[in-house]
Amino acid sequence: MSLYRNAVWFLNGIHQYTRKGYESALRDFEPKDLDVSVVGRSFMITGANSGIGRATAMAIAQKGGTVHMVCRNKDKAEEARADIVSESGNTEVHVHIVDMSETHKVWEFAEAFKRQYPALNVLINNAGCMVHKREVNAEGLEKNFATNTMGVFILTQTLIPLLQKSRDPRVITVSSGGMLVHKLRVDDLQSEKDYFDGVMVYAQNKRQQVVLTQEWAQANPDIHFSAMHPGWVDTAAVSTSMPQFHQMMGKRLRSAEQGADTVVWLASSRAAARTRSGQFFQDRTPVPAHLPLAWTHSSAEDIQVFMTQMENLGRSFTENLM
Ligand SMILES: NC(=O)c1ccc[n+]([C@@H]2O[C@H](COP(=O)([O-])OP(=O)(O)OC[C@H]3O[C@@H](n4cnc5c(N)ncnc54)[C@H](OP(=O)(O)O)[C@@H]3O)[C@@H](O)[C@H]2O)c1
Repeated sequence: MSLYRNAVWFLNGIHQYTRKGYESALRDFEPKDLDVSVVGRSFMITGANSGIGRATAMAIAQKGGTVHMVCRNKDKAEEARADIVSESGNTEVHVHIVDMSETHKVWEFAEAFKRQYPALNVLINNAGCMVHKREVNAEGLEKNFATNTMGVFILTQTLIPLLQKSRDPRVITVSSGGMLVHKLRVDDLQSEKDYFDGVMVYAQNKRQQVVLTQEWAQANPDIHFSAMHPGWVDTAAVSTSMPQFHQMMGKRLRSAEQGADTVVWLASSRAAARTRSGQFFQDRTPVPAHLPLAWTHSSAEDIQVFMTQMENLGRSFTENLM
């Protein structure tokens, strides 16, 4: 049954998640939506030195926004920054070196950012990884979970008070359509119990991001939250973590700019701000976070258990987070 479901999901992806899928969705886009200036607004983008994050940073810089690039590698970050400044002519592009898998350091960074900057209009949780071998960070958290879920949780949760002080605040999390065939699991956040499969753990993290987005939206009505799927995009993450898929899809993969389109739309357009907070998007459109007749819906109790685990973990690595 699960093989059948995965096959259906994959065939659907061939239609929708590829370059052709983007080109077909593009016909329904409202071109004026992105015809906006974001001068005076500030955007924090994690993983902004490469792929979708870099394309997003470039687009925002070109629209006049202040960009805070949160990256783990100084050389790569400075190189990307130089390109963005030179191509956009916008010098309000700042680099912050943070490894999103190091929970306590993410918190320290977010706290310092709040002290240094009076406002943050948009947070874009883009950095992500798919590690195939089970590794843990200094705090004992499994690396995929630490980066994709805990880092996103700590950064967002810590920055919420700053976002709340800012005009038209938004949080966008780059999730993945891969989460559609996965139900939230609350019994093994550190992936210790079963055979370790990095693809499954990644998809589980992406489901967790969608659940976090829904919960944050409910708890913080003054901030617009969204999660999104960028489609299948030709980036370093795909070529290194999924080499066979990358080779098989070849030119059918989207460009980084096509993958970033919905992120930029959610971050900057007035149309996006009019949508209901907490939804999952694909190609500028809210789409269900579950496949038809899916078994992936969670009970309110499971969601509560998950959120409590996140809050307890968060509290143990930070001070006064919640
Ligand atoms: N490409 C796709 O088809 C696809 C599909 C669905 C979802 N996504 C999601 O899209 C997002 C962007 O990925 P991408 O495809 O654009 O790949 P990418 O070009 O490899 O970009 C990933 C970015 O995340 C950064 N990153 C990874 N781990 C980090 C850490 N611990 N601390 C700080 N930064 C870290 C990377 O930094 P380094 O350059 O230093 O490695 C890089 O800047 C990810 O969340 C991914 O899961 C991608």
